[in-house]
Amino acid sequence: MIKIAILGYGTIGSGVVEVLRTNQESIAKRAGSEIEVKYILDLRDFPGDPMEGKVVHDYDIIANDPEVQVVVEAMGGVEPAYSFVKRALLAGKSVATSNKALVAKHGAELIAIAKEQSINFLFEASVGGGIPIIRPLNSSLTADEIQEITGILNGTTNYMLSKMTFEGLEFQDVLKDAQSRGYAEADPTADIEGYDACRKIAILTSLVCGQQVDFEEIYTEGITKITATDIKYAKAMGRVIKLLATSCKTPEGYCAMVAPFMLSQQHPLYSVNDVFNAIFVHGNVLGDAMFYGSGAGKLPTASAVVADIVDIAKHLHKNILISWSSRKMELVDSKRAKSRFFVRTRNGADTITAAFGEVEWIEAPGVTGEMGFLTGEMVQEEYEKRAEGLQNVLQMIRVV
Ligand code: HSE
Repeated sequence: MIKIAILGYGTIGSGVVEVLRTNQESIAKRAGSEIEVKYILDLRDFPGDPMEGKVVHDYDIIANDPEVQVVVEAMGGVEPAYSFVKRALLAGKSVATSNKALVAKHGAELIAIAKEQSINFLFEASVGGGIPIIRPLNSSLTADEIQEITGILNGTTNYMLSKMTFEGLEFQDVLKDAQSRGYAEADPTADIEGYDACRKIAILTSLVCGQQVDFEEIYTEGITKITATDIKYAKAMGRVIKLLATSCKTPEGYCAMVAPFMLSQQHPLYSVNDVFNAIFVHGNVLGDAMFYGSGAGKLPTASAVVADIVDIAKHLHKNILISWSSRKMELVDSKRAKSRFFVRTRNGADTITAAFGEVEWIEAPGVTGEMGFLTGEMVQEEYEKRAEGLQNVLQMIRVV
């Protein structure tokens, strides 16, 4: 019997309890042992809940109980999650977490502590919800030099952009709907401004390069400025707008960014809609691979957390090596990234061609009083320099 404690009885914490109950027998077989929830830490009480009797309000009870071998952190946010997780690891308890903010900020340190203690700190659910991507990067794809990871890593914004595309709605109209479905973070700013996707690509890039990638240094642009008019232009070009989190290995080093992109029908992420996430990986010997599934939501995320608990149960006193040192990886300036650029402006054709040379003109049905055009491929630095020749840029979206 392996006894676990769950920190936080919100969406993910209660999902973990549900998954453990639903698949109790098969999970026990795969883990080689029964898994029992001994405590749930939460500030609230849950009268009438079947787990009511397991709820505690004092973390000391969990940290000081030698019977607890695994701590599941499902609180979110950096503190007090970081202090609780660190204390659990130092007390010899393995940890499974879904908390990308914690992993992006303190992953390297917590991985190192787990290694010293011959236990495990696992975080499959922190990126891509229920999609296996951390374990593949850490085991199945270790023969490769990963040259590119590009993902739709935020379910809320993908749901919103899909709804804007299919129903022609404006940004504000779709945000509330996404929140009511439980996809969004407590403060949806993290979703719509791209901060959530930024932490996730920081984690993936750290795993790929084996060093600390600071999320604060990743250029991040959200979807708050995307309008129904932009979507009309995208449709006129046979494209869709997606919030991509991308990281590429260039001869100068790793270059990462989060931003809305217009994707062609040939792009592997073109058809990833609604709350689904997908991660495209290119390895130097593997070639292309795609991971697709539910990127947010209670049970998919809990499924990944429980899979980590099973892995921990299978490696109780043995550390699963994760290559992610605290040595900082300096990223290449995202202005060096190459793409085409879609631009909307109130400037005339002469001013536009004087600034950019030959461009592809785009017309969107029903849109008047502005010009839309697509540049050739160039680095962002060059785009910015040329765009100085325009006075009225209404929108710029990268195109791949
Ligand atoms: N708010 C996040 C999303 C939850 O929408 O993807 C999963 O990390």
